[in-house]
Amino acid sequence: MRVGVVGGGLMGSGIAEVCARADIDVVVVEVDSERAAAARHSVERSLARALGAGKLDGPAHAEALSRLAYTTSIEELAGADAAVEAIVESESAKREVFRRLDRVLPDARFLASNTSSVPIMKLAAETSRPERVLGLHFFNPVPVLRLVEVVRSIITSEAVVTEAKGFVQGLDKEVIDSQDRAGFVVNALLVPYILSAIRMYESGFASKEDIDRGMVLGCAHPMGPLALADLIGLDTLKFVAESLHEEFHDASSVPPSLLNRMVEAGLLGRKAARGFYDYTHPAS
Ligand code: NAI
Repeated sequence: MRVGVVGGGLMGSGIAEVCARADIDVVVVEVDSERAAAARHSVERSLARALGAGKLDGPAHAEALSRLAYTTSIEELAGADAAVEAIVESESAKREVFRRLDRVLPDARFLASNTSSVPIMKLAAETSRPERVLGLHFFNPVPVLRLVEVVRSIITSEAVVTEAKGFVQGLDKEVIDSQDRAGFVVNALLVPYILSAIRMYESGFASKEDIDRGMVLGCAHPMGPLALADLIGLDTLKFVAESLHEEFHDASSVPPSLLNRMVEAGLLGRKAARGFYDYTHPAS
């Protein structure tokens, strides 16, 4: 099988890696040669880590590397069996990619998007065969987290869903089905939970440490909701909350004032070294 991955950032490079490790030929498309080199670097570093940790042996590592190619031209995907789009979360940019994928891959078995918030139907509508478009929502970090949400639009064909699920299971991932609704299954549940933790902290109900310790020790979550907000990135969290609110108009997904102020202040979480917690010093 040969698959195109459009966008080789955090998610696209992870998707490319898991495909290559599953003996699928992968072509990663990026915007320019610098970003293509960065995607290559990121995939190769991750594969080297897997080799070092004994998760891949030498021949499997070499085999995975041999399956990967990088390009700046989407036309090079011609003849691929399928494509997964993982470019920036911009509806207009994604629509343009789907228009081009439709032209370059008239016979592809499916065209998938890893979008977190753009309705799949809007992307499908850009193509001449909207029934073959669906969402495959991977989780970060892709090589580690086993879930993929399979998102069908109201007109995705069942044959396409079956085909795409077979592809995902071949990557040693588990699938769950979701309708084409903001947040799909996981974020629609997770984001209101994190927002309520922020509201609880903001109102002085409990300290941030106690909120997080409560959920770790009382519910065996691997991390508390405020630490998780820092990991996701507060700007991303706010963005997903807004798309949930736009879709469902439910008060549980209104971004709390504290979240808005923190995003405005640039306290975005781990990536900014400050969020609910301070990450300036590695030990803190
Ligand atoms: P990112 O910013 O790390 O990577 C996006 C990449 O797309 C960049 O390398 C950029 O150069 C490239 N790109 C932009 N326009 C392009 C085009 N027209 N053609 C080819 N490449 C293009 O973003 P990230 O985090 O990898 O997110 C990608 C997608 O995955 C988004 O839709 C996001 O919502 C979704 N997603 C992100 C998750 C996360 O935890 N970061 C989790 C699940 C889904």
